[in-house]
Amino acid sequence: MEQLLKQIEDYKNEIGTAVAADAKAIEEFRIKYLGTKGVVKAIMGEMKNVAPDKKKEAGQLLNEFKIFVEDKFQSLKVAADNQQQGTGNQIDLTLPGDELPLGSRHPVTLMKNRIVSIFQRLGFAVAEGPEIEDDWHNFGALNLPEHHPARDMQDTFYIQTNPDWVLRTHTSSVQIREMEKGKLPIRMLMPGRVYRNETVSARSHCFFHQVEGLYIDENVSFADLKQTLYFFVKEMYGKDVKVRFRPSYFPFTEPSAEMDVSCFICGGDGCNVCKKTGWVEILGCGMVHPNVLSNCGIDPNKYTGFAFGMGVERPAMLKYGVNDLRLFSENDIRFLKQFTAAI
Ligand code: PHE
Repeated sequence: MEQLLKQIEDYKNEIGTAVAADAKAIEEFRIKYLGTKGVVKAIMGEMKNVAPDKKKEAGQLLNEFKIFVEDKFQSLKVAADNQQQGTGNQIDLTLPGDELPLGSRHPVTLMKNRIVSIFQRLGFAVAEGPEIEDDWHNFGALNLPEHHPARDMQDTFYIQTNPDWVLRTHTSSVQIREMEKGKLPIRMLMPGRVYRNETVSARSHCFFHQVEGLYIDENVSFADLKQTLYFFVKEMYGKDVKVRFRPSYFPFTEPSAEMDVSCFICGGDGCNVCKKTGWVEILGCGMVHPNVLSNCGIDPNKYTGFAFGMGVERPAMLKYGVNDLRLFSENDIRFLKQFTAAI
């Protein structure tokens, strides 16, 4: 019995100081103390040598020893787990970060931003509106009553009829929304995506982008419209570019005009871009029709205004030498990553 007590004490001391650095050391500990040929088993075997009157006391001691060893085994395992997790989570903050691939702006966005920034310098603010529109904002309020043949100028995606909901065919719908707010004067730009039911080809698509503009105040004249657009053309295409206005028709403006600039590719001599005419069509414009002002609760006898609208894709195609409109919406990364430069 004495000897047994001494043995247990020695082992306890030994085990008490045991540390296990890794899984292998823990396994060695298990085999040495708790294995089938291990210390605990061996000491249990000593029971047979204990005098009968001491057996009870010895049994208790041995059990306590067994529990002591098992507890130690568990705590070594926990300590090793924690240590491993700690190593796994350890972050070296001095290392350089992982490089994220840098995106670039879409060429249509670049061109839109450029157009917007020129007009912003004249005090135009930006307004946005919904791409799904009701019939009134896309057509009715713009002097395009139901069944009017002028509606055929814009082939339309009706997504619901009666009441009619359309994918807006122009951002003029946003002009109506701004005018309806009743806050005058208005000097706003309406950039955004528009939809038309057109066959997709290299030169046309079922959606594209526009920037429209609207200026309404007292005494706004056609001269103001021309002056504003001259400024835009000079900033956009350079001071040597010539401008011409051709009479045109839009239901929502009167008078209406189409604005051309002298071809900035060939300088007006005639090339493929200008179809040998020396001129490139840039935008539609005109004085806001009195009916449109009345439709939005603005007194046409007191206020006048001008509006204009231009596509974004075409100038972007000319600027970047892109010959197929579809490239803009295919999201081919090889195409998109070429437009890293600011314009
Ligand atoms: N809304 C016209 C279009 O999409 C463009 C335009 C706007 C013309 C304003 C004149 C005045 O074709």
